[in-house]
Amino acid sequence: MTDLQTAWEQDYRTRGRLWGGAPVLLPGIPAGTRVLDIGCGNGKTLEALVNHSRDITAIDFSKEAVAMSRQFLVSYDSGDALVADGRRLPFADDAFGGVVARHVIGHLNKEGRMAIASESARVLQPCGRLFFLEFSTDDMRNGTGREVEENTYRRGTGIITHYFTVPEVEALFGGLRKESISTRYWKMRVRGRDLIRAEIVAVFSKS
Ligand SMILES: C[S@@+](CC[C@H](N)C(=O)[O-])C[C@H]1O[C@@H](n2cnc3c(N)ncnc32)[C@H](O)[C@@H]1O
Repeated sequence: MTDLQTAWEQDYRTRGRLWGGAPVLLPGIPAGTRVLDIGCGNGKTLEALVNHSRDITAIDFSKEAVAMSRQFLVSYDSGDALVADGRRLPFADDAFGGVVARHVIGHLNKEGRMAIASESARVLQPCGRLFFLEFSTDDMRNGTGREVEENTYRRGTGIITHYFTVPEVEALFGGLRKESISTRYWKMRVRGRDLIRAEIVAVFSKS
């Protein structure tokens, strides 16, 4: 197991369901197709995906996370979850009509980000769509922790977070067609101060 994998496994083991809150919006994911959720975690995105497809494959490199996602998918009779690394997807080329990469690519170093982006594009069918969401360099947390690469910080748990620019996301998926890309801003009140949260949301398709 790599250090990063161990860090995530430990986080789920000690804190259980890490991701909850508002429902996830998934623009661009075609209804009724075979869908892959990369880095599914405890299944937050799956709660939205079951409204799009009943043929969902969820992967995560944490066994603890996969167990939670599998339980959810099986209860909805909507697919299965398995332990796999997004940098080396165990699926054939063109296997999925939709791929979701939500807050997973940003938890890897540059080499890992490029590998997962290339693997996502490989498994996407022609005309299939990829949904991407990650934190922007404008986010209030950019700069928190120890910098390990440009705009990439390691916090106490050992987990790293990279903060993206729009041109960087466009370059990462340069082999796909850009359908839309934007930065979503909102305020978060922390100790009496309004701080800015910022996420880049993008949809790409394969020609
Ligand atoms: C911040 S959580 C997001 C979970 C979920 N996508 C969501 O939005 O609620 C990141 C997840 O990505 C997983 N992860 C990180 N790197 C991965 C990799 N290389 N392959 C598979 N899963 C990975 C972690 O184990 C963790 O569950």
